[in-house]
Amino acid sequence: MKNVLVIGSTGQIGSELTMELRKRYSGNIVAGHIPGAEPKGELLETGPSAVVDITNREQIGEVVSRYQVDTIYNLAALLSAVAEAKPQLAWKIGVDGLMNVLEVAREKKCAVFTPSSIGVFGENTPKDKTPQDTICHPRTMYGVTKVSGELLSDYYHLRYGVDTRSVRFPGLISYVTPPGGGTTDYAVDIYYAAVQEKVFECPIAAGTFMDMMYMPDALHAAIQLMEADPARLKHRNSFNIASMSFAPEIIYHKIKEKLPDFRMVYNVDPLRQAIAESWPNSLDDSCAHEEWDWNPVYDLDAMTRDMLDKLGKRMGKSTASLFAHQH
Ligand code: SER
Repeated sequence: MKNVLVIGSTGQIGSELTMELRKRYSGNIVAGHIPGAEPKGELLETGPSAVVDITNREQIGEVVSRYQVDTIYNLAALLSAVAEAKPQLAWKIGVDGLMNVLEVAREKKCAVFTPSSIGVFGENTPKDKTPQDTICHPRTMYGVTKVSGELLSDYYHLRYGVDTRSVRFPGLISYVTPPGGGTTDYAVDIYYAAVQEKVFECPIAAGTFMDMMYMPDALHAAIQLMEADPARLKHRNSFNIASMSFAPEIIYHKIKEKLPDFRMVYNVDPLRQAIAESWPNSLDDSCAHEEWDWNPVYDLDAMTRDMLDKLGKRMGKSTASLFAHQH
């Protein structure tokens, strides 16, 4: 039995991770959320939920005690473009909030998973096959909070023995809960436009490669790492993971293979473009393979088939009917 608290359970990752954990473990899987972002539907009905504001240490501690939580998935964060608009809030949630979680974990002996990101890298990081251990010198507030979070998490492990683990997520693509204010969001939005038969305005320039991942692989990564044998882990905060890397024109052509009438035009957002250019083209994830058998399932083709199918169904259009409309 495992008792888990998911902080940020109604967000892009949390809404699916909480459900996945509930399928997997028999204990309390608590959907932690802030007021105004209450769980709904399946998420509300299949297990306990509690108000957990990451900036409130006592509240986190109280919920951890009430449900005898042994593992915290800390998913509270502002994504990269929003963090540039609200840098102080990004720090308060990403770093001060993490400190609250780590303090509760130290006191109550919990393991902690906190996602890091490709955002930890910057202009002077090697861009292709970016190594596990390399220069992490970002110029975005998102990156600053993620590098700080990695260092703080490793510190709590080395100093206090807290079982902290993390992966550097690339852009995550899913059909359940949309991301908000990230640089990689275009790779989600493009599928919505395709299914809604709209022209897609791409905010990222042609030729800009970034690592991306389909949500089922991302969920699997988080759970698999938390279940990994600690004796095998030479790294903790945080592992490079990767499954695919593409530029806008590549995902566009992949969708066009299935929906030939789909159209994309460029309307580049300078902020997001600058952030994207400071991030790697592709990561080397060999340490994750070696230390905890990381092995993604989805490539761009498999993800595109599944996204179009699932989003189509959610919007009342089967892929077959979408395809039939195409000339
Ligand atoms: N998806 C994130 C962002 O774009 C990157 O980790 O901000």
